Amino acid sequence: MKLIWVEGANMFKAPTAEVADCCAAVESLTLPCGVYLTLVNDEHMRQINKIHRGIDESTDVLSFPTVNYPQGVTASGAAELIKQEYSDDEKVYILGEIFISYEHVRSQAELYRHSTSRELCFLLAHGIYHCFGYDHEQPNTQTRMRNMEEKALELAGIPRDEMPLCEPTDEELVALAKEAMYKSYSPYSRFKVGACVLSEGGRVFTGTNIENASYGLTICAERSAIFKAVGEGVKDFKAIAITAENAPPWPCGACRQVLNEFAPDIRVLIAWGKDQTDEAKLSALLPHGFGPNDLP
Ligand code: THU
Repeated sequence: MKLIWVEGANMFKAPTAEVADCCAAVESLTLPCGVYLTLVNDEHMRQINKIHRGIDESTDVLSFPTVNYPQGVTASGAAELIKQEYSDDEKVYILGEIFISYEHVRSQAELYRHSTSRELCFLLAHGIYHCFGYDHEQPNTQTRMRNMEEKALELAGIPRDEMPLCEPTDEELVALAKEAMYKSYSPYSRFKVGACVLSEGGRVFTGTNIENASYGLTICAERSAIFKAVGEGVKDFKAIAITAENAPPWPCGACRQVLNEFAPDIRVLIAWGKDQTDEAKLSALLPHGFGPNDLP
């Protein structure tokens, strides 16, 4: 089955194409079919949920089947309906459109203590089975749907054991920094900054700049993120992504000094504008820095 990515294809390393194929195999679907897939942030998801379901909340996955196949897409009667959904551009029958919140992918992976890859694949399988016409409104339909999802994931080689969280890609770190940036409290400078620091153990901590009417009390996004992590007992870092809206947000001198305290060799990724990025090692941004080892 064709997985047609609309946005977010490179955000997670996950065998999504295989999962789509395995969902179709479990359903014994042989027609050339496809679904659209878009990864969105929680705010976007909240808007979609509000418009289409009247629920003013974000959620993990939403599916919009093009046609309702109450007994599944391969049941009798469905074959005629599906014929009307052929896309000349994609050369497949379109079964529907799936939206997944990438913020939920990470937070639910942490909650269930498995990889972001497993979580994304699970949500995708769930979305695909909705597009096939299945639901989980009754206990028996719920069990049927869960069993099919589990079968498809197993077939794709994604068992249900505990797996370490997947390392976020640079693209995901930047996306998380951007989410934090939208929470910026910067009424004085109107310069929003977001940061997302990645620990050696693969955990992420975000921060944003928080200003104050007494200007000097302002805290930068990078230090917000680092202090959050250190306050949670995490002190080893390997990368930090920093985002701003329209200007390259290289960290200020104070933040370089704070980064140097914990991770003199950290990778600093910056992103701004629509998709501009740059990257440097902290050692290049703060040569001859003064750190813990320089104290007698
Ligand atoms: N800012 C950061 O958050 N990080 C930096 O490295 C540079 C500056 C914030 C602080 C303030 O809220 C605004 O940007 C303008 O200086």
